Amino acid sequence: MHNHQIQPGILADLPHAARYLFFTLLPEANIKLAMQCLRSVAVDRSIVIGLGPALVKATGAHVDGLRNFPNAVGPGIDIPSQPFSLWCWLRGDDRGVLLQQTRALQHTLAPAFFLDHVIDAFQYGTGRDLTGYEDGTENPKGDNAVFAGIVNGRGAGLDGSSFVAVQQWVHDLEHFDSLSVQQQDHAIGRRKSDNAELKDAPPSAHVKRTAQESFTPAAFVLRRSMPWAGATRAGLVFVAFGHSFDAFEALLKRMLGAEDGITDALFRFTRPVSGSYYWCPPVENGHLNLSTLNTR
Ligand code: HEM
Repeated sequence: MHNHQIQPGILADLPHAARYLFFTLLPEANIKLAMQCLRSVAVDRSIVIGLGPALVKATGAHVDGLRNFPNAVGPGIDIPSQPFSLWCWLRGDDRGVLLQQTRALQHTLAPAFFLDHVIDAFQYGTGRDLTGYEDGTENPKGDNAVFAGIVNGRGAGLDGSSFVAVQQWVHDLEHFDSLSVQQQDHAIGRRKSDNAELKDAPPSAHVKRTAQESFTPAAFVLRRSMPWAGATRAGLVFVAFGHSFDAFEALLKRMLGAEDGITDALFRFTRPVSGSYYWCPPVENGHLNLSTLNTR
């Protein structure tokens, strides 16, 4: 597998502004035409594209490991699943440009897809969550990022691809602000002031729950989350790329207390309102390589 087979936006640094577009396949869509539309999109670092399970199924092909996002339940916690056919992450600096890019993409995909849902996202400071905490510190870097986030050794058409989990979280920032700084630091497991990891954080602390190397096998994911804000609500679009969904599911399971009954302290001030899974195909000459779907 070569790095030029990877959609470049996956490994690139976070953009200043982004839009997440969720498309649904038209009921009467011609699937060959749908794939032609997708292949015609130029894939550079300004866009990452993921195909949902229902879309892949419509091609008659099978991508091993692609499944629907699982509904999950913890004590007082709902993890909802809301699948879509297609996910596009537009990445840029200028919201106007992102809007025009959205419209152009809508036109390109119009024969087969309609735009069902949009989330506008942005970078806060140097990659902070809206609670003020640095997000992404323990992300694998360089070759380790490729190892965690990208499929390798599964043959042409799959190598260079990635499986991505996407969840919209809504924060209760009023509640979070009412906590003492120590309570906040203990919820995350790091100090807001200098991002130092707290050795004495309780086991419910988010980074204790999700310590990637504490899993067997290690549960490394490549996180590319960004804050979002609407008129009255705000939070995080959690995005994690993996060579499969296994690491993400292991992390989420532990956050829900499935092993020891201890739930992640994050759930005291934020909750997910959607969740979906996509397969991000490899690229060839600047376009999606959909050869594994066999629909030419
Ligand atoms: C609103 C939701 C979330 C927020 C605000 C959040 C925030 C954070 C913050 C501030 C850190 C510490 C710095 C860092 O290493 O990035 C962190 C670490 C981490 N988070 Fe989250 N997170 C959220 C959801 C999730 C979810 C759903 C997962 C996985 C299922 C996850 C997995 C991780 C992992 C793997 C780490 C690194 C742990 C380590 O190895 O040290 N997070 N998160």
